[in-house]
Amino acid sequence: MTDAITITRPDDWHLHVRDGAPLHTVVPHTAAQFGRAIIMPNLKPPITTAQQALAYKERILKAVPAGLEFTPLMTLYLTDNLPASEIERAKEAGVVALKLYPAGATTNSDAGVTDIKKTYATLEAMQRLGILLLVHGEVTSPDIDLFDREAAFIDQHFIPLRKDFPELKIVFEHITTQEAAQYVSSCNGAYTGATITAHHLLFNRNAIFIGGVRPHYYCLPVLKREKHRLALINAAISGDARFFLGTDSAPHPAQLKEHASGCAGCYTAHAAIEMYAEAFDNAGAIYQLEKFASFNGADFYGLPRNTSTITLQKEFWTPPESFAFGEADLKPLRSGEALPWRMIP
Ligand code: DOR
Ligand code: ZN
Repeated sequence: MTDAITITRPDDWHLHVRDGAPLHTVVPHTAAQFGRAIIMPNLKPPITTAQQALAYKERILKAVPAGLEFTPLMTLYLTDNLPASEIERAKEAGVVALKLYPAGATTNSDAGVTDIKKTYATLEAMQRLGILLLVHGEVTSPDIDLFDREAAFIDQHFIPLRKDFPELKIVFEHITTQEAAQYVSSCNGAYTGATITAHHLLFNRNAIFIGGVRPHYYCLPVLKREKHRLALINAAISGDARFFLGTDSAPHPAQLKEHASGCAGCYTAHAAIEMYAEAFDNAGAIYQLEKFASFNGADFYGLPRNTSTITLQKEFWTPPESFAFGEADLKPLRSGEALPWRMIP
């Protein structure tokens, strides 16, 4: 039995840190574990210019505790009318990617894309300059069942997009289905990758309903049935370089999650690498964690792998039940529960 493992410091290729006072809670959690993180731009209003991204990056860096080395990797929010000229400025500012949210798909996505064709001039500039496209892959049509929205997106949008921009690097974010895992496996790994969250590796959709409605397990794309969770586990532990870690840790004030119309998003940044270790260990594949968590994402983005290491130990511990979140409380996923793996500081 492996009860401790040392791996290259991982990166989080999909993270929400919000803005203002909450930064001082959530950024230290991520910076304690990860070398870098892709910072999602869905603020209100969204980050749509290189200048805004640089200012946001400075605010994030101010929240990194002294002594920790952490690099936020900035993204812009793709809209129907984000001009192609902004892509040149983004490249110069070190912005690494744009995020495509179909309008109305999730938290703060009102400004999202209504028709991907409207963004084609911008996507061409991205393909030319080597800026990645990160995709929230769910259709939004009310006539498509919520659980089928990711699979429908592949046929309706992903395949045409892939065909029209063969050399654009695209990440299918937070995949949740067997269909998405299979589709990504069939793509050229130089240009298509996918992130997988810890919660989609650990839980199926029953978790949302066991013993009553449990809003902290509600996120988008929503948890799916067990066969999909197993397909994601197989993809994550396979060592296939197309799949890498992206927590989609998405903090919300507890009172807005525990609400008649609760927000989508699971907060996992406080114990992210531990939850991935648990999922890999449950599958008998802890030895594959390093590729998924520390190598595949950096390689796909064309960035150097981290050089420092972290150590994880099989030892129960109970994270705090809640954290301060500005004036509000932040309840992490599995609040109050003991976790079987722990990162040694
Ligand atoms: O559950 C989610 N929460 N899914 C998303 O796509 C957005 C995120 C958020 O920002 O809260
Ligand atoms: Zn997200």
